[in-house]
Amino acid sequence: MIKKEIISKYQLKIKTLNYHNRLYYSLSKPVITDSKFDELKKEIIELEKKYKFLINKDSPSIKVGYKASKSFDKFEHKVQMLSLSNAFSIEDLKNFEKKIFNYLNKKFKFDYSVEPKIDGISASLTYKNKKLLYGVSRGDGKIGEIITENLKTIKDIPQNIVDPNFPGEIEIRGEVFIKKKDFLKIKDDFANPRNAASGTLRQKDPKETEKIPLNFIAYTFGYVDKKNFEYQTEFLSNLKKWGFKTNKDNTLLKNINDLIDYHKKFESKRYNLEYDVDGLVYKVNDLNLQNRLGFTSNSPRWAIAHKFSADSASTKILNIDIQIGRTGALTPVAKVSPVNIGGVVVSNATLHNEDEIKRKDIRIGDIIKIERAGDVIPHVIEVDINKRDKSSKIFKFPTKCPSCGSNTLKEYNKTTKKYDAVRRCLNDGYGCERIAVEKLKHFISKDALNIDGLGKKVIEKFWDLKFIKKPQDIFNLNFNKIKNLDGWGEVSVKNLKNSIESSKNVTLQKFIYSIGIRHIGIENAKLISESTNNVLNFIEIIKKKQFDKFLNIDGIGETQINSLKNYFSNHFNVSIVVELSNILNIEKKSVNKNGILKNKTFMFTGKLDGISRAEAKSLIEKNSGTTLSTVSKNLNYLVIGQKPTRKKVEQAKKFNINIINQKELKKLFN
Ligand code: IVH
Repeated sequence: MIKKEIISKYQLKIKTLNYHNRLYYSLSKPVITDSKFDELKKEIIELEKKYKFLINKDSPSIKVGYKASKSFDKFEHKVQMLSLSNAFSIEDLKNFEKKIFNYLNKKFKFDYSVEPKIDGISASLTYKNKKLLYGVSRGDGKIGEIITENLKTIKDIPQNIVDPNFPGEIEIRGEVFIKKKDFLKIKDDFANPRNAASGTLRQKDPKETEKIPLNFIAYTFGYVDKKNFEYQTEFLSNLKKWGFKTNKDNTLLKNINDLIDYHKKFESKRYNLEYDVDGLVYKVNDLNLQNRLGFTSNSPRWAIAHKFSADSASTKILNIDIQIGRTGALTPVAKVSPVNIGGVVVSNATLHNEDEIKRKDIRIGDIIKIERAGDVIPHVIEVDINKRDKSSKIFKFPTKCPSCGSNTLKEYNKTTKKYDAVRRCLNDGYGCERIAVEKLKHFISKDALNIDGLGKKVIEKFWDLKFIKKPQDIFNLNFNKIKNLDGWGEVSVKNLKNSIESSKNVTLQKFIYSIGIRHIGIENAKLISESTNNVLNFIEIIKKKQFDKFLNIDGIGETQINSLKNYFSNHFNVSIVVELSNILNIEKKSVNKNGILKNKTFMFTGKLDGISRAEAKSLIEKNSGTTLSTVSKNLNYLVIGQKPTRKKVEQAKKFNINIINQKELKKLFN
């Protein structure tokens, strides 16, 4: 069966299941027997197990008991529940440590708390006056669902704390999971142990949750009113004293070499453990250092998940396709004979770029080794040259864009004096059909406008139907037409309408990111939004092509400026931003406005001592101050480090601006 057929067979089953669900639960008029219903449910789960690309939010492996998740009350996490970034190699680990040194502006020794990464579902437990008050799911990291009663059925979760040193209010976080042996008993109902834990936790009736033996291991905290611990390892031993379960394989290590040794040892015993693990988590042990390091938009700077190595398998390359990405990159993808790798059926593998094909001498018809790790796209490791026969064909990489026919280019990098390995379509913008579709997918994605109900597949469909050709069209959809499409109905259209409407309230940072300009990711969008302050200023800069203004922003360099210049040299791209600004309510992100540096502006010149500019800037912002990138009469303080720029100091003197050193800056923070 080809993929399309499998998907439509699966979707039909889900639709039928939903239909019977409604008859049973909402209308109390079932038309099939319970056993027929269970059979249908089982067929869906079997399909999911066989074909891992099948995902549907209505799947019985996610929704057990068939009550919509919407019926749980929502809870805003006091401290966001972010995820961890991943390391797959020693190189990645070294980079992780290097970034820490760069951020703190010095190289030094520190310890790591090392903890197995159990593959379950994270949960947050709020305790007040030694009593469990709320149990909440992670949700989207900002807002979770209150599942207190279900969590209370887990015997590892203490409901009352006796220890006298327990904080007045604390949020304990950890992993809910099911042991491998317990999963075997219910394996017919769920695709894997993780889904089993998730589904069980979302039962409307806690009695149903109780039937399945769930476990809880605690590993971190969110909000805490009075922190009486200074190290992660100290916190972990406190957890034990307070009555929580912690992982017996947690340990404290001193450097990257020790981490690598422990990872090797642990990996070999992972299959003998009682539960599924997908790696180890390394955390900077000193909580003060953690606090200084803070977070990027998605993950902490002080922790990383070191994943276990991937599973691999041999298969044959049937063909090579070219995919075109949002920034015009032409990515070759090997279409391979479907092969099961660690429980997942793989039929595509990325070949990365033109050079990679040449370097590994990959040909159509070759037998290759494929690897996959976690959610990362499977990739080709090597060709089995011994199995190559005469029919194998060298792949001719296209020099024109397969979508719009434009010229393509491998850019020349002046610094490295090398040509980029990636070939790109030069039609950057909405002129190239494939790029346009990818841009639209980016626009609605989670970190951009985050429009629920308008996923990647819907964008493809609406593009084919010519409902959407540019982002503005999303806000002018004809819902009557959508209502009549296959798979759509009153409810889904209403939900879509609502999520489009609520996506209109967006921060300037997310808006800039959503445009999808090459080299302007979340972090750079944040820097630009902070420097431009509001969308009108941003538009003025675009219209007047004053991108060089951004050169003063720490973190923005020539690469980003050139990318902005290039992108907005196309009038159509300018008009999209202008038109969107009239449709959306674009706000600057609200921050703590009443801190000690309220209404004060700062600028740095020269190298700071023992602290990076990024950290100093973040400290100023945490205290409601603003950093500027040019000397003007709006500037209150020019902070001088080593080797300051003379011109800036002179300008500051001219404007009578306070010129202070690092010590004096520190005093301002009290
Ligand atoms: S600490 C800011 N510690 O991994 C993130 N997470 O990708 C702090 N996980 O959602 C999380 N074991 O579900 C942490 N010892 C551990 C963990 C762990 C498993 C999971 C957790 C989290 C995900 C992050």
